[in-house]
Amino acid sequence: MSFTVRRVRADEWEKVRDLRLDAVRDPAAAIAFLHSYTAEAAHPDEFWQERTAGNAAGDSVAQFVAEAEGEWIGTVTVLRWRPGATDHHARAVLEARGDVVGVYVRPGHRGAGTVDALLDAAAEWVRAFGDPALTLDVHVDNARAQGAYRRAGFVDTGLRFTGVIGPELEMRRALD
Ligand SMILES: CC(C)(COP(=O)(O)OP(=O)(O)OC[C@H]1O[C@@H](n2cnc3c(N)ncnc32)[C@H](O)[C@@H]1OP(=O)(O)O)[C@@H](O)C(=O)NCCC(=O)NCCS
Repeated sequence: MSFTVRRVRADEWEKVRDLRLDAVRDPAAAIAFLHSYTAEAAHPDEFWQERTAGNAAGDSVAQFVAEAEGEWIGTVTVLRWRPGATDHHARAVLEARGDVVGVYVRPGHRGAGTVDALLDAAAEWVRAFGDPALTLDVHVDNARAQGAYRRAGFVDTGLRFTGVIGPELEMRRALD
């Protein structure tokens, strides 16, 4: 099935919320997402409205979705970090980079290139600002996600840390 990838619009907060609530109920959620279904489902509408407005505009964060016949089938979000900042794992940022988070493709659409197109959209967005790399953190046991990231040009940086979901490794894709 063909699909298109684009940035979310501010008025699409209900679709952003619904896709996220499906993602955090995925069987792999415990090794994929920092927040639980219970925590995400407790947010009021205003939370999703503000988040979606932030993800739809500006140069700090962007959320991309893959859409097939009107259905949202996958998503990635990119957070841009500048040197001197502290990232979402409370680490000092030494190099400008875009951090990919919230990666999800609906089960019926996996293995069909959706995640590659979403990651390409993230890379293009970050590259346009001149940032040299995309990075992401992935649970050591999330073999499927690691496989998809390797195919999309990410390499293991060797960094290991324990975050709220357990042991994770960092991967990086240089942008030129
Ligand atoms: C992670 C995710 C976005 C990847 O998208 P996808 O469409 O499933 O990915 P693909 O099937 O195209 O690619 C997975 C790769 O890993 C490989 N793979 C699949 N299962 C695997 C396993 N158990 N062990 C090792 N490799 C595996 C596949 O062969 C493929 O690699 P290849 O193309 O070189 O053969 C999707 O599976 C998903 O949404 N998962 C649940 C949420 C999640 O884990 N998000 C990531 C958080 S970091």
